[in-house]
Amino acid sequence: MSHLVARKSAIFLLVVFSVTRLVFSRSLSLDQDPCGSRKLREFERLRSDQITVLINGYSESRIPLLQSIVASYSGSSIVSSILVLWGNPSTPGQVLDQLHHNLTQSSFGAASISLVQQPSSSLNSRFLPRPSVETRAVLVCDDDVEIDRKSLEFAFSVWKSNPERLVGLFVRSHGFDLQEKDWIYTVHPDKYSILLTKFMMMKQDYLFEYSCSGGVEMEEMRKIVDQMRNCEDILMNFVAADKLKAGPIMVGAERVRDWGDARNEEEELENGVREVGLSSRRVEHRKRRGKCIREFHRVMGKMPLMYSYGKVVNSVGEQGLCRKSGKLVFCDRD
Ligand SMILES: *[C@@H]1O[C@H](CO)[C@@H](O)[C@H](O)[C@H]1NC(C)=O
Repeated sequence: MSHLVARKSAIFLLVVFSVTRLVFSRSLSLDQDPCGSRKLREFERLRSDQITVLINGYSESRIPLLQSIVASYSGSSIVSSILVLWGNPSTPGQVLDQLHHNLTQSSFGAASISLVQQPSSSLNSRFLPRPSVETRAVLVCDDDVEIDRKSLEFAFSVWKSNPERLVGLFVRSHGFDLQEKDWIYTVHPDKYSILLTKFMMMKQDYLFEYSCSGGVEMEEMRKIVDQMRNCEDILMNFVAADKLKAGPIMVGAERVRDWGDARNEEEELENGVREVGLSSRRVEHRKRRGKCIREFHRVMGKMPLMYSYGKVVNSVGEQGLCRKSGKLVFCDRD
């Protein structure tokens, strides 16, 4: 009798063990057709109280930082699972096995963590629909940005009230150069139209829109991303703005550490101060991004990007209200 029980529990343990292995396994992306119709799942059936984090990893030298970012996301109760999308095909399998081991060791919280080896280094792969994503919202982000938990949760609450919009922290603009008579990539002090993938929260349907919809036009635009080895974020903004006829939403974060990505040479310095004057690499970067905007515009035959204004913050600070002549007014005003 007890022998039988022991055998049963051994089998049970075996099953639990293999399921756990499955959840944490490093997987090659073997989806034959990520655009199969089953992948566009009904929005209503997906979880709405949590998000799935899709982190892009590429550089082996940044693995320690990647680990710390994954650990930080895994500690939040709103994170259902984390997929580390490894886009560097020349990284040795041994390193990836180590990384996988380390990632699962360093996690705390209930979020499941997996390491997905991308089939190619194409930047488009970061937006492939994934059958394991069980949440309405996904957070697409890079391995160089650390954000505090409160701000992550605040961004999610803003997204929940605006589930059609792209919600994030880092923004840029398109613009029209009157002398050149052409579109450019730029920064405006008071408005924005492009959300960067350093931190981009959105409904997972946009992954499908980007990767599977749009026919030959989208195909050509995804090819431009591959040729330029850049601009997948700009294209996602085109896709969302075209669908929605509205721009992204920028939220304010309390603490963000931006470690900088060589691909985004013109980003702000860590303390948020923009470098005075543009280095030649930065100028080059902006030119490439401008070229992407012009190419996407050419293929689409229109400019769908739209400007948004202002930043959503989670507190109005200490603006006291005083009653004056029967009206509520800010105390520091007459
Ligand atoms: C994994 O962790 C060990 C111990 O902290 C470290 O020496 C190693 O570099 C890490 N490797 C990877 C690929 O993450």
